[in-house]
Amino acid sequence: MSDFAELSVEGKKYQLPIVVGTEAEKALDINKLRDESGYITIDSGYKNTGATKSAITFLDGEKGILNYRGYSIEDLAAKATFLEVAYLLIYGELPTTEQYAEFEGAIRRHTIVNEGVRTIFEGFPVNSHPMATLSSLVSSLSAFYPDSYEGKDNSDRHIIRLLAKLPTIASWSYKRAMGHPMNYPKNDLDYCSNFLHMMFSLPVEKYEVDPVVASALNTLLILHADHEQNCSTSTVRLVGSSQANLYSSISAGISALWGPLHGGANQEVIEMLEAIKADGGDVSKYIDMAKNAKTTGFRLFGFGHRVYKNFDPRAKIIKKAADEVLAKLGVNDPVLEIAKGLEEAALNDEYFVARKLYPNVDFYSGIIYRALGIPTNMFTVMFAIGRLPGWIAQWKEMRAAKEPIGRPRQIYTGATLREFVPIENR
Ligand code: MLT
Repeated sequence: MSDFAELSVEGKKYQLPIVVGTEAEKALDINKLRDESGYITIDSGYKNTGATKSAITFLDGEKGILNYRGYSIEDLAAKATFLEVAYLLIYGELPTTEQYAEFEGAIRRHTIVNEGVRTIFEGFPVNSHPMATLSSLVSSLSAFYPDSYEGKDNSDRHIIRLLAKLPTIASWSYKRAMGHPMNYPKNDLDYCSNFLHMMFSLPVEKYEVDPVVASALNTLLILHADHEQNCSTSTVRLVGSSQANLYSSISAGISALWGPLHGGANQEVIEMLEAIKADGGDVSKYIDMAKNAKTTGFRLFGFGHRVYKNFDPRAKIIKKAADEVLAKLGVNDPVLEIAKGLEEAALNDEYFVARKLYPNVDFYSGIIYRALGIPTNMFTVMFAIGRLPGWIAQWKEMRAAKEPIGRPRQIYTGATLREFVPIENR
């Protein structure tokens, strides 16, 4: 294959270097295109545009492949802890026993949050959306740790703080919404068990973490840990490219994830299921509405994926976890029965199969979180806890590569130059 592609425009020819990645992905390098030709490219939604080269996550949308640093999501979900995967994403290799003990131990020692952050939290309205408080409080951490922006490269300490404190901060929203006392973390518990303790234990009774629930949460967090240059990760990289500190960059990623077209999709799934239940629970009626979306305007959330063209490898794994959790907890929930009816149709009805509208990771994650007793408006918070190590890894990679500040071009389509008209003459 030639090392260059040739572009011919206005009678002139330009050579565009061809870049080939380790998984044989190919790109045209247009770094010099505007200087040489005066042309830029335009690609709304960046569907055909690579923003960077990255060694963190590889996904193949056609083959349904998702690998973190060369390890398959199937292997990691079955054999690793979430913090092992976090270490792998951030530092590039699976930790040795000693490295893991140091990393996991440091996180256990930093789970408590400065009481000043809680004071800020208590200033929010009680019914605040947990993503509003999470993004705000994560950004506020830069004020509590000014060495994060005073030009010192001690990001490892801030990486530990973020990984350690995000679950603690996340649990506050739920406890206050329930009118329950907030729990302090327990440093004798592992990461997932500690979060479940902070979320569900009450001073009036002994709380035992169900190992099946903790294992399902571990799997869910691993499946959400990174996903190459998705909207929120690209946001973290873009904000970080201005040399903004880690807390501010992650806060921006949390805000991007909140959107219903991105991380908010799992909340939309349950709200869709609850609406179907409220309307009588007739799954076939809504299947027909989805097939006639042009006239009904009904959109199925949790099916298909903008990147995966055949199936979402994470959905296959999470479906198994969902079945295990529902069986173990003996959950009898009409909303989850409706979900199974939609799943059955999506996996067997030719209309959905032909359009690759299979249940995706958001469909099943919403079901599990609901079965675990996590409230719907906390679902995207759970996605953020999972995605945090990926955001951190991508931010760290971008900084290490000393990438320039991200500043996309545009094609101007507004009014051309015109004279100012005084207001009395308009
Ligand atoms: C994700 O995991 O970030 C979502 O699947 C969205 C995406 O990758 O675009």
